[in-house]
Amino acid sequence: MRVLIAVLLLAGCGGGDGDRAARLAKAGKTADLPALLRVADVEAGRRAFGQCAACHTIGKGGQALAGPNLHGILGRAVAGDPRFGYTQALKDHGGRWDDARMDAWLAAPVRVVPGTRMAFLGVRDPMERADLIAYLRSESR
Ligand code: HEC
Repeated sequence: MRVLIAVLLLAGCGGGDGDRAARLAKAGKTADLPALLRVADVEAGRRAFGQCAACHTIGKGGQALAGPNLHGILGRAVAGDPRFGYTQALKDHGGRWDDARMDAWLAAPVRVVPGTRMAFLGVRDPMERADLIAYLRSESR
């Protein structure tokens, strides 16, 4: 019983994200990215985007801040906003943003693209990254 209460308290700590434990359980013990994306929550991602919003807008046509506007980022070419002055490092990364590349980037930007100017340590929690990806996708339509 005590354990159950502790779990409920923990689950209640995520800023109203009380269903997180249930979502993780649903994703399974060895939850990989596709499994996490199946249980990802756009609203939790919207809250998590608070840590990005100092540097990124996401609305269509939104202005660049320290970082580029992220509207439609999934499927978009890496370093693909012509209005933004990217580092050569990110330009050289090439290709397009898909779920797997976004997941790796959000976990550790500097490890994925050494020399990037995105001064952000990364999001350690895989569920939070999946929520962020779901949010980025929902804002891309
Ligand atoms: C301190 C400012 C800052 C924060 C916080 C930040 N970013 Fe960035 N971001 C940048 C900058 C600057 C770049 C451009 C990097 C470069 O040119 O090397 C960038 C680039 C990106 C790109 C690549 C854009 C493209 O057009 O290819 C993505 C995706 C991205 N950020 C997502 C995020 C997300 C999601 C978060 C929050 C979890 C976040 N960033 C937090 C500054 C930031």
